Amino acid sequence: MSVVRPPVVTVHLQTDWAASSFANDVRAGLSAQPRRLSPKWLYDDRGSELFDQITRLPEYYLTEAERGILRDSSSEIASLSAATTLIELGSGTSDKTRTLLDAFTATGQLERFVAVDVSEATLRGAAFDIAASYPGLAVEAVVGDFTQHLDRLPRGGRRVVAFLGSTIGNFYADERAEFLAALFATLEPGDSVLLGTDLVKDTGRLIAAYNDSAGVTSAFVTNCLAVMNRELGADFDLDAFSYVAQWDPALERMDLRLRVDKAQQVRIPGAGLDIGLAAGDEIQVEISAKFQLAALPALFTDAGFAHARTWTDPRADFALTLAFR
Ligand code: SAH
Ligand code: AVI
Repeated sequence: MSVVRPPVVTVHLQTDWAASSFANDVRAGLSAQPRRLSPKWLYDDRGSELFDQITRLPEYYLTEAERGILRDSSSEIASLSAATTLIELGSGTSDKTRTLLDAFTATGQLERFVAVDVSEATLRGAAFDIAASYPGLAVEAVVGDFTQHLDRLPRGGRRVVAFLGSTIGNFYADERAEFLAALFATLEPGDSVLLGTDLVKDTGRLIAAYNDSAGVTSAFVTNCLAVMNRELGADFDLDAFSYVAQWDPALERMDLRLRVDKAQQVRIPGAGLDIGLAAGDEIQVEISAKFQLAALPALFTDAGFAHARTWTDPRADFALTLAFR
């Protein structure tokens, strides 16, 4: 009988990481023009819960499209990658990952699953659940920032790094290139990357996915103000902002912003910042870049990877690509 092994948890974030790094980010981002925040601060416990709700919204087609591809193609992915370690970046609840884990464990090749996320409570919960569901599999949870800690990913065996959900779309172009270069540098020849990317499509569907009728996405994005009020002692008036989701056709990305409805002077003592916000001012909270199917191979080859295969769902809404180091 296989034994359930509790996950090994490694924390790469210093205890004051959220406070110090968050304060620095807020100071730099909110004093710049245009004012900007990093999306990694959207995922406190409440934010992670709201994102989980987003994945179940009828308008948010991404999760189900990617799940469908995983259902159809995971066995092929497992055999092509020949990986003995599956590493997942930005794993969240690792819900879809179970489809991959089923296929990898069915081949008998998988020895280890490593989940990496900044959201510690969600990560720990997911790692415990996976360890219980897959007895015999070594499960590791790494509390870390994938923009900083890729060089600390566990080594050994043949690794496949999954980055699902089109989270790569939340990087600006320069950040995306930096991320892919860091990933290439940390992997060994024969290791691979499995990347989920949302594809450019009808503008109405894109806007609906980021401006749902139940208002969950608006609550998710607005939550960053509540996080600054709580963590940095800020006094944002949460009711004085409107959520704005726009499609940028030139840069092929959704732009998610908070627009100031009522002029206000905001104190953010934890970041040593006082800002005057005029009505109509905007804070850019997140972008969500969308990709052209034909351009995907170059995304990898430009970063030095060898493109192996891209799968899509029947509607070609979403793509999953396997590429080798
Ligand atoms: N992979 C899941 C979750 C995507 S949501 C899916 O496909 O549905 C994005 C996840 O990335 C969240 O769990 C969030 O906490 C995590 N995340 C965001 N920025 C991060 C960073 N810089 N480093 C590590 N994790 C990050
Ligand atoms: C995590 N990431 C891929 C989501 C996205 O679709 O860009 C985050 C999100 N923001 C609003 N809705 C979903």
